[in-house]
Amino acid sequence: MDKEKFYITTPIYYPSDKLHIGHAYCTTVADCIARYNRFAGRDVLFVTGSDEHGQKIQRKAAENGTTPLEYVTEIVKNFKLLWEKLGISYDDFIRTSERRQTQTVQYFFQKLYDKGDIYKSEYEGLYCVQCEAFWLERQLSGGNCPDCGRPVEKMKEESYFFRMSAYAEKWFKFIEENPDFIQPVSRRNEMINFVKQGLDDLSVSRSTFDWGVPVPFDPKHTIYVWFDAVINYITAAGMFEDMDKYRRYWPADLHLVGKEIVRFHSIIWPIMLMAMDLPLPGRIYGHGWLVIEGDKMSKSKGNVVDPLLLIEEFGADAIRYFLLREVMLGADGNFSRDALINRINSDLANDLGNLLHRTLGMIERFNRGVIQKGEEITPLDAELIALADRTIDDFERFMENMEINEALKTVWALIARGNKYIDETGPWLLAKDPAKAGRLNTVLYRLAELLRVVAFLVSPFLPFTAPEILKQMGLSAPAKFLLKDARGRDIIGGGAKIAGGAPIFPRIEQPAADTGTASPAPGIEPAEEITIDDFNKMRLRVARVLAAEKVEKTDKLLKLKLDVAGEERTVVSGIALHYAPEELVGKDVVIVANLKPAKLRGIQSRGMILAASDDEGRVSIIEAPGVKSGSRVK
Ligand code: MSP
Repeated sequence: MDKEKFYITTPIYYPSDKLHIGHAYCTTVADCIARYNRFAGRDVLFVTGSDEHGQKIQRKAAENGTTPLEYVTEIVKNFKLLWEKLGISYDDFIRTSERRQTQTVQYFFQKLYDKGDIYKSEYEGLYCVQCEAFWLERQLSGGNCPDCGRPVEKMKEESYFFRMSAYAEKWFKFIEENPDFIQPVSRRNEMINFVKQGLDDLSVSRSTFDWGVPVPFDPKHTIYVWFDAVINYITAAGMFEDMDKYRRYWPADLHLVGKEIVRFHSIIWPIMLMAMDLPLPGRIYGHGWLVIEGDKMSKSKGNVVDPLLLIEEFGADAIRYFLLREVMLGADGNFSRDALINRINSDLANDLGNLLHRTLGMIERFNRGVIQKGEEITPLDAELIALADRTIDDFERFMENMEINEALKTVWALIARGNKYIDETGPWLLAKDPAKAGRLNTVLYRLAELLRVVAFLVSPFLPFTAPEILKQMGLSAPAKFLLKDARGRDIIGGGAKIAGGAPIFPRIEQPAADTGTASPAPGIEPAEEITIDDFNKMRLRVARVLAAEKVEKTDKLLKLKLDVAGEERTVVSGIALHYAPEELVGKDVVIVANLKPAKLRGIQSRGMILAASDDEGRVSIIEAPGVKSGSRVK
């Protein structure tokens, strides 16, 4: 195997409760990075799992009248269900209660003990059960745990200690020689400051509970859950089980973790490996937290968001897209239903969905559903092709730097350019002139090629949608999406018959405020009832379009000159993506004649044209052909 390898991990989650959207965020980011690396041609090992030991789980199981193993086994089933629904492409799911893990943990413990790096002493300290962590008085925040803010308990017990203090200098040297080890830089600085305050030896065993890995030579002691947990990464690489695999994948290239556990990963874990004389991972990346409408998620606040329900309502790819696009990796991000719906409607339904469905609709209508190659390309086509090439390069650079939302932005800029290209080339006009059939084919072919590139580039983010786009285009999805296959400007060839299908991202209609009225017919959004007097306030009138032109520097606006019963009016209308100006001249349309005038892009607009639009982005103006201009519509 000569492919470069890439080993990436998520934290292993506590199966003490259901996972929430914050956990889903962390795993979605890791999945996107894993998928990108496969896409880039690397041989990826992607591991997630569950951190099953410790006092908290033991207590929870007892409260539920069951054993810890039975308790966590049920919860772990739900973890796996969530990951499946969210499209998480993990290669291995490690549970710390598995034998392979016990073996490695005991091996580490024994070896460090034999070496003198683990010794027995007595511990007196302040313990946070929630975080399974001991704290020093000076580390507390307002007397409480600095991580979770809960009260700490005074504990005194015999304990084994790991001689971390002996490694401070070695750690500093390593961090200096590997400036990219802890990312982002803000976390690196935090960790350096933390170690500068002095490294204490770490208590690594407990004798007050027994749900965990026993100390091999002193079984009344149970190995500290964090000592156990971080070792999962090397167990899953194959240590003991499969040494060939281990030699291939260890050390890990990236441990992606939340910001509050960077300390365990960038100080304790590397020092454990140094003491074991084992290679250290390539990078620890601390991502930010997802907050809910600006607030930390918590059961007591009742604002915990269940990702399974969201997936059911909006689909996995919409949730993935939101998480990856809205949050800048490393910074905290905000989740709200409104923001999610906005993203779905604007980026997914409008931009991506419209590009696909408009293109397929036109191929269907103008070319009986067959993609044809067309004739020579024009400079406009060449510009579109060059942008696609540049987008692929930018996308690759951003993803290699883990700038996920920048990578998405660049793909969406290409999508926007595609939509604009439709407006600029006006295929509906070309279709009216048989002499322009060759040009029409070229335009539709360029759009199909563009969509093919887009399908490839979105595959690490939208794994369910990427093959669906190709399927609707009548192309077969590759067994593996590969970046190198995204490139190319003439891949589809002529003759492919599009398959079409349902909208990939239907628009989400926001329900109107609850008015207490009876339910409307299925499929129609609820709205406030009005009286006939309300309706009569409106003056709907027939108007004849005298002239039409695009409003400069806008995509969507047309400026129309209308005749309404002999009076000339200017109306600005947002239908430029759907109608060419020439198509409208001479049409008898319907307007709201008594709408308050408004200024749009500096143009005074008097009235509004009525048009119908559907979920798939089709728009049709309402016409009254041949009815005298100025006639009332009621
Ligand atoms: N079991 C430990 C990790 C051991 S790794 C060797 C643990 N588990 S956890 O279930 O509490 O958290 C797992 C991960 O979820 C952490 O990286 C944490 O940052 C992340 N998140 C928990 N809530 C989160 C948000 N609200 N937002 C983003 N990530 C969050 O810690």
